[in-house]
Amino acid sequence: AVERTLSIIKPDATRRNLTGKINAKFEEAGLRIVAQKRIQLTPAQAGEFYKVHAERPFYGELCEFMASEPVVVQVLEGEGAIAKNREVMGATNPADAAAGTIRAEFAESVGENSVHGSDAPETAAEEIAYFFSGLELVG
Ligand code: CMP
Repeated sequence: AVERTLSIIKPDATRRNLTGKINAKFEEAGLRIVAQKRIQLTPAQAGEFYKVHAERPFYGELCEFMASEPVVVQVLEGEGAIAKNREVMGATNPADAAAGTIRAEFAESVGENSVHGSDAPETAAEEIAYFFSGLELVG
């Protein structure tokens, strides 16, 4: 089925001017960028977005990092977009990411890992609604 998923290009990647190279990976995989904006999160907004990780030891560091510099939030659309995006991103830890994936090529560490992608249809819907209104989504 055609799905939509929420993607974030993280501060380590925007800082190194990698937005275009990362977007090229998505487009080459057949994902269409149907919404996109560059924003700077507050630590509170990052904390709300990542609240499922609130009990993890890295939560504070994660929220601080995500608010440290601008991010690019985007909606990717395509056949099986959620799984396809996760395939293109590679494993969370770049040390485990397959060759050719975004994290293998660009991520600096498990924390500063260049991209985020929704993990399931329910979270994709929630995460898209967190950043975008219906008017901003143009398939
Ligand atoms: P992401 O897919 O955005 O979802 C949660 C994020 O937490 C994850 O990518 C990593 O950036 C971060 N994360 C996961 N594990 C660790 C860890 N062990 N140390 C620091 N950050 C982590």
